[in-house]
Amino acid sequence: MVRSKIAGIGMYVPSNVVTNNDLTKYMDTNDEWIQERTGIKERRYAHRTEETTTTMGVEAAKVAIERAGITPQDIDFIVFATLSPDYYFPGCGVLLQRAMKMKQVGALDVRNQCSGFVYAVSVADQFIKTGMYKNILVVGAEKHSFGLDFSTRGRNISVIFGDGAGAVVLQPTADENRGILSTHLHSDGSDAEILAMYNPGTHANHWKENLASFNDTEIADMFMSHAMIDNAENFPNMDGPAVFKTAVVKFPEVIMEALTANGYQATDLKLLIPHQANLRIAQFVQQKLKLRDDQVYNNIQKYGNTTAASVPIALCEAWEAGKINEGDLVCLAAFGSGFTWASALLKW
Ligand code: COA
Repeated sequence: MVRSKIAGIGMYVPSNVVTNNDLTKYMDTNDEWIQERTGIKERRYAHRTEETTTTMGVEAAKVAIERAGITPQDIDFIVFATLSPDYYFPGCGVLLQRAMKMKQVGALDVRNQCSGFVYAVSVADQFIKTGMYKNILVVGAEKHSFGLDFSTRGRNISVIFGDGAGAVVLQPTADENRGILSTHLHSDGSDAEILAMYNPGTHANHWKENLASFNDTEIADMFMSHAMIDNAENFPNMDGPAVFKTAVVKFPEVIMEALTANGYQATDLKLLIPHQANLRIAQFVQQKLKLRDDQVYNNIQKYGNTTAASVPIALCEAWEAGKINEGDLVCLAAFGSGFTWASALLKW
């Protein structure tokens, strides 16, 4: 049976380090609150004009492609996960295809927020298993720093997020002891607005009550209006405690689902790479699954929550640090806005 394996992995984070103390210049917050509630000490912010979600994705992709021993021209499909695309449309996948001078291969953007990378890996895995593609580039990248409310109004969410990118190249392998064993994807949209950016969007909730009184020009303004900006509706909105409560249930569930599907137990895991949402969530998951410290990789302290980039950045760092070797059982798991949650179990 053909499986897909990670043939190359890379990451990129901007050089600009922003500490918790740096954020106190803009909002009423403090290092102690941020560290105690989230574990975050600092994060990276992209260069304002020179770096975008795509350019960071390209940097991570270059490393992954080189480590896979191939060239950008060998890539036969691109899957790009992000919630902070350069443009509303088209997606970052085609911008990466252009920037890396790739062949005119398919490019798919995945918009699944924090679980985006695991979803993207799952999509790529299916194309490899069916034999359709041989070298798929999967990227997770975010430039959050351009879309956060840096006033005190937005402090519960703005302190959490950071910028960066990670990428992998998936290739087929016939080796029974390697590769992605299974992926598990879930969603529950009943609480979609709990962690969301409402505008710009086509829902027009803002205007519904008075809709009859608007003319066509005013209706066109409903996509993005001054009122929306004044109300900070163009920034992400989050009910933090509600997200926390669901995350600590769904994370262990989806990890156990992956282990059980393949006849493994938590004790068999060499390394769990949880999406870096909040250190307290990761610690809760660790406790629940009775994992040792060396079985869970966390780097949220340095990068904050980089959404679709967090799993590949953590996986890349763990691999570079020699914490993952050939044959090791590794679980990738994520939970986030939607809600969506997902896992992938693999033998490195
Ligand atoms: N600095 C200082 N105080 C802050 C603050 C900040 N950055 N953000 C919020 N506060 C204040 C609130 O205003 C509130 O003050 P009040 O009690 O006077 O009203 C107080 O801290 C507690 O707020 P609350 O939101 O209840 O805190 P919390 O303990 O739930 O922690 C989160 C907030 C966001 C850290 C936490 O809920 C969380 O991590 N949730 C999960 C979020 C997540 O993982 N999101 C990504 C999903 S992938």
